[in-house]
Amino acid sequence: MIIGVLNQKGGVGKTTLAINIASSLSHGGAKVLLIDADPQGSALDWAASREGDPLFPVVGLPRATIHREIDGIGSGYDHVVIDGPPRVTDLARSAIMASDIVVIPVQPSPYDVWSAQEVVELIEEASVFKEKLFSVFAVNRKIAKTAIGRDVNEALSKYPFPTLSASVTQRVAFAESAAAGQSVHELDATGPAAREIDALTAEIINYTEMPTYE
Ligand SMILES: Nc1ncnc2c1ncn2[C@@H]1O[C@H](COP(=O)(O)OP(=O)(O)OP(=O)(O)O)[C@@H](O)[C@H]1O
Ligand SMILES: [Mg+2]
Repeated sequence: MIIGVLNQKGGVGKTTLAINIASSLSHGGAKVLLIDADPQGSALDWAASREGDPLFPVVGLPRATIHREIDGIGSGYDHVVIDGPPRVTDLARSAIMASDIVVIPVQPSPYDVWSAQEVVELIEEASVFKEKLFSVFAVNRKIAKTAIGRDVNEALSKYPFPTLSASVTQRVAFAESAAAGQSVHELDATGPAAREIDALTAEIINYTEMPTYE
């Protein structure tokens, strides 16, 4: 399956979720490729900052032709995760067209809810050319037991895409692991951050009953 993690809004957690979703899939035994479609190259920086063997290969592909290249590049992998760029519309559009499912990270803030309009429109445009495309919101950096954390689901319900019931909490483990080029699973495979990511990943995979990508 090809999972695109996209949102033109910057800093919502695209790279964090893409890396850790890829890690979750790879810990589950799947052969995973992470495509860095962001000209900033954050996922590549993450991979370069690690010591020891890579968890999974990370390739940079900040080109508006990902949707045409994906079959070749992704061949031989069970799953491909695409870390999308902020702002750059043509790259985001291409990443959307390459995806089987688009995961849209949003933080529990009204600004994130409002600005999601942009990615929703882009997905709707792209889906004209794409027969089967699933899109879901993933709430990231939720702060436990706050009203805003609950309200975000309701606010997102005005959009035509569902919100995953699994969400990801604001946790230092995400930044700490990233600093060492690691995933949250490497920091603590059964810790709360890894468990949230595993639940999110399982929900994404179960979302579509599509055969695994070959
Ligand atoms: N659940 C979380 N808990 C704590 N920190 C987080 C969480 N998710 C993301 N962050 C932090 O928020 C910052 C932005 O995250 P990230 O780089 O993943 O966003 P992005 O959408 O990829 O940004 P860009 O649009 O620049 O590519 C990073 O410093 C990251 O460590
Ligand atoms: Mg990023």
